[in-house]
Amino acid sequence: MKKVCVIGWPIKHSRSPLIHNYWLKLHRIEGSYERCAVTPDELSRFLASLADRGYVGCNVTVPHKEKVFEAVRVDDPFTRSLGAVNTVYYKDGELHGTNTDGIGFLQNLKSRSPLWRASSGPATILGAGGAARAVVATLLAEGVEEIRICNRTLERAETLVTMFGDRVRAIAWDRRTECLGECGVLVNTTTLGMTGAPPLDLALEQLPETATVYDIVYAPLMTDLLKRALTRSNPTVDGLGMLLHQAVPGFAQWFGVTPVVSDDLRALIVNDLEAQ
Ligand code: ATR
Repeated sequence: MKKVCVIGWPIKHSRSPLIHNYWLKLHRIEGSYERCAVTPDELSRFLASLADRGYVGCNVTVPHKEKVFEAVRVDDPFTRSLGAVNTVYYKDGELHGTNTDGIGFLQNLKSRSPLWRASSGPATILGAGGAARAVVATLLAEGVEEIRICNRTLERAETLVTMFGDRVRAIAWDRRTECLGECGVLVNTTTLGMTGAPPLDLALEQLPETATVYDIVYAPLMTDLLKRALTRSNPTVDGLGMLLHQAVPGFAQWFGVTPVVSDDLRALIVNDLEAQ
């Protein structure tokens, strides 16, 4: 019986247990996936005793992703470039970590907007936090030629330019409508539009109608940005699929079966979100 957990602080709202326990049941695997509230003070001790507590690995969420990156072995260059880990597992008795946010972002984009290509045009990313970092690294690896990062705090966007090089440009927040021209994909990685946060104030007139509009916010599922994009016929992608797809590699690593992100799984999480 394999046990896995998700650690974070707070952790109450994590949907990861619903996702993984759905797959465990579907594949008739004896295992469990639990929520563990771990404070920043407790983190090192918790990680060091993961196996003693009976876990074969864990997922990591806010605010621990960077600290865990420092504490485990990271082999893949993608995760190294992010400096943040969301999936932890044992290999030859040693704790390893990887970041599956980028894979989740890309699989969701490809499945919900199948006509999108790296060659569709520049990408405009709103926001410059941890999520933006994963998105930028992924789109660059996928071959997007130009990435425009527009952020309220310009210095944070400039930090990403320094990290990722001259295919990336930093744009001031008050110029956000101008950087939509010729775009192949627009991604909102800010918290704007989330339940309880201010709305995202962004006019879409300059955005081509073929551009994919991707909001990584999933509460609410249909953000105001996505609603407005839909009315002008842009392909749209919501953030729930990213959450579902980022869970796939971890499950495969821990339990030895590569699960599928099905409509049934999506409906299960949508129901849970709507019950809030
Ligand atoms: P994460 O790591 O999950 O991406 P984060 O680092 O807190 O989260 O980033 C949140 C993003 O939302 C940031 O880009 C933030 O802009 P700043 O870098 O200027 O803080 C953006 N954001 C949050 N509130 C905002 C607001 N009221 N207006 C514009 N951008 C906002």
